[in-house]
Amino acid sequence: MAAAETVRVNRAGMEAGLLAPGQADTAGFDLPAWRRELARAWSDEARRNLDYGDSAGLPALRESTVRWLALTRGLRTTPEQVLIVHGPTQALELVSRVLFEPGQTVCVEEPSFVGAPRILAMAGLRVVSAPLDGDGFHVAAARARHARPAGIYVNPQNQFPTTRWTTLQRRRELLAWAHEADAWVIESDYVNEIVFGPAVPPPPLQGLDEDDRVLHTGSWNMTMFPSLRIGWLVLPLRLVPLFRAVRGLYGDHVNVAHQAALAGFIDSGALSRRVRDLHQRLAERRDALFDAARRRLPAGLALEPMRGGATACLRLPPAAPDVQIAAAAAAAGVPVEALSDHAWEHPGVLRGLVLGIGHTPLERIDEGVARLAEVLGGPNGLRRRD
Ligand SMILES: Cc1ncc(COP(=O)(O)O)c(C=O)c1O
Repeated sequence: MAAAETVRVNRAGMEAGLLAPGQADTAGFDLPAWRRELARAWSDEARRNLDYGDSAGLPALRESTVRWLALTRGLRTTPEQVLIVHGPTQALELVSRVLFEPGQTVCVEEPSFVGAPRILAMAGLRVVSAPLDGDGFHVAAARARHARPAGIYVNPQNQFPTTRWTTLQRRRELLAWAHEADAWVIESDYVNEIVFGPAVPPPPLQGLDEDDRVLHTGSWNMTMFPSLRIGWLVLPLRLVPLFRAVRGLYGDHVNVAHQAALAGFIDSGALSRRVRDLHQRLAERRDALFDAARRRLPAGLALEPMRGGATACLRLPPAAPDVQIAAAAAAAGVPVEALSDHAWEHPGVLRGLVLGIGHTPLERIDEGVARLAEVLGGPNGLRRRD
C-alpha cells in the first residue's frame, strides 16, 4: 500500500449525521461529574499534575486501567504492563516503529478500520490481508497467503466494520500460528464495554496468550468522549523496558491532569454508571434499528447480528455498488460508509454499508432507516448498474 493513500483518513471531516458510524454518544455524557474530576485534578493540592509526569502514564490511571479491563473484559494484567496512550491509532504507530523493521510483513484482516493498514504502511511495513468469514479472522486462509508475518493485527471482538466476533477456536488457531511464525499479535479492542448478550464474548487474545506475544490496545474515546484522546496499550512483560524507554523519547504523552481526572472518574464509579446508561441507550436504539430494518429495507436485505458496540453492518449482494449507494445515502442525510471503502487490498471483497447508532437519538432511527431504504430502492440504489 502506498503511503500517499493514507491521506484519505481525515477524522476532522467525519460528519455527524443520521446513522453515521464512528460517532460517540456525547449527549448522554455526565459533564458535571467530569468537571468535578477536572477541578480536583487542577486544584492547588494537585500541583504535581503540572509536572511532566511518567511518560508511561500516571501510576494512578495505570492502576485504574488494570481494574477497568478486568471488570469489562476479564483481562488480567499489571500496572507495570500498561502504557497510557492517546488510543489504538497512536499505539499502532508506536508499535510499528518499535517492534518492526521497515520491509517486514504485517498481516491485517480485511475489511478493517483503514487507519490500521495505513499507519503500518507509513512506517514502511508491507501490509498483507487476512480474509474474514462468519467465524471472524480466517487463520488458515491468511496463513496460506503468507506463512510467516512479523506481526498480525486483529480486532477479534465486534470487528470494525463487519461487527463479527472471532470464535474461541479461531483465536486459539491465531495464537498457534503466531507462535509458529514467531509473530507479534496486536489485538485492537473497540468499544467492547458494550455487549448486548445473551452471547458471552470469548476471552481476549491477551488472556489466551501463553507466549507473552500479544499487545492489547483500546481507548475510552467512545465510552467517555472522542476529544478525550486517552487509551491503553497493554504490553507483554518482556517488552515493557523497551516501550518505556521509547515512549520517554517522544514528547507526546497524555496531559497529566486529564489522566488524573480520568482515574478519578473510573474510581468514583462514574464511568461504570456512564457505561450502564450507554448500554441502555444503545440497546434501545439497536432494537429500533432492527425493527425499522425489518419493516423498511428491500426484501432479502438484513443487518448482520449486532451483539455489542455502536456499529451495525448491512451486507449487500456481491456486485452491489456500495460506494455509490453510500454517497447517495450521505446526500440524503444518512452518511453511512461503504464496506468497500474499508477494504484496501481486494476492492469489493465484501459489499455493504456500515451504520452507527452512537450519535443518532432513538426517535430519529426510524427516519434514518426510511431514508436509507428509499436510496436502496431508488435509481442510485441496488438496481443501479455502472
Ligand atoms: C478498530 C478500531 N480501532 C481504533 C479506532 C480508533 O480509535 P481511537 O480514535 O481511539 O484511536 C477505530 C475507529 O473507528 C476502530 O474502528
